[in-house]
Amino acid sequence: MKKILVTGALGQIGSELTMYLRKLYGFDSVIASGLHKKDNAVVIESGPFELIDVQNAKQLYDCVKKYNVDTIIHLAAILSAVGEDNPSLAWKINVDGLFNTLEVARENNCAVFTPSSIAAFGPTTPSDQTPQLTIQRPTTMYGVTKVSGEILCDYYYQRYGVDTRGVRYPGIISYVTLPGGGTTDYAVHIYYDALLKGKFTCNLSKGTFMDMMYMPDALDAVVQLMEANPENLINRNAFNITAMQFDPELIYLEIKKHIPDFTIDYNIDRVKQKIADSWPNSLDDSAAQEEWGWKPKYNLESMTIDMLDKLKEKLAK
Ligand code: NAD
Ligand code: SER
Repeated sequence: MKKILVTGALGQIGSELTMYLRKLYGFDSVIASGLHKKDNAVVIESGPFELIDVQNAKQLYDCVKKYNVDTIIHLAAILSAVGEDNPSLAWKINVDGLFNTLEVARENNCAVFTPSSIAAFGPTTPSDQTPQLTIQRPTTMYGVTKVSGEILCDYYYQRYGVDTRGVRYPGIISYVTLPGGGTTDYAVHIYYDALLKGKFTCNLSKGTFMDMMYMPDALDAVVQLMEANPENLINRNAFNITAMQFDPELIYLEIKKHIPDFTIDYNIDRVKQKIADSWPNSLDDSAAQEEWGWKPKYNLESMTIDMLDKLKEKLAK
């Protein structure tokens, strides 16, 4: 990776990944892009920034040519809850946007990283220790777009030799940029509300287990996979990766160890609950471990200590 273009760079993952990559590869070597120039001044001002709508293939093409890009980190997407509100927009951005990205990569000999998600699985998938290769019949439009994207990336590698790689991210927890409208967002909001209000109303029920990961591990995964020796990659795309599994009660109890008066109650969002119930309880990430050495650093305990510290600092400013 020498010249990297990040799409969707102002989102939850992009805002941190762009800065992480700039520190590793050089500030001028990572071109951030987004739909607008609001928020995240640090991303917009610390290196090159371009306005790119991934539905516009010409904007992507021109940017790749302008900077001589060799790697596209494609993060522009609509997440699960927003996707259920607007399925046709989710299809256009998640599938047509990825198709444009892959075409531009093919024409310009770029590698592509694209995240899939735990949402690529559905109610008929084995939900405990979900295997790398298994049944994928998701019941959300977001999930449909993620499975389509996985297959599209495989196709571009097999048919054209485009170096496509990717992971199935679990819910990502972070303190820099708020999540963009997913089902796992509660696991971020709970930390904010614990510090700001001392109480949290959870929109998912006790017992709703899902895979989760702290942002520093999510960032490392991109670099480790993109720098991995291609000869060792049997799967290439859509690697299951995970760091921890919990339900709302477990994360609440972990935070309560640090904030003893913290309370929780429940007001279930039926749409989000149905989505969460259709996703796995726990992924088997042994393929990622074996093929490129995947190993997360954070668990629920260490993530909670760090999240509370960093959020306290942020909220005090
Ligand atoms: P996000 O919603 O926070 O950010 C996505 C960004 O894409 C936003 O800044 C948005 O403005 C931008 N965008 C939307 N439409 C666009 C368009 N037409 N052109 C260009 N940009 C556009 O999402 P995120 O959490 O940062 O997710 C990044 C990727 O990781 C997505 O593919 C998502 O599906 C995947 N993922 C995220 C999680 C998670 O928990 N955050 C989990 C699994 C997978
Ligand atoms: N965190 C994402 C969501 O809930 C999972 O892909 O939509």
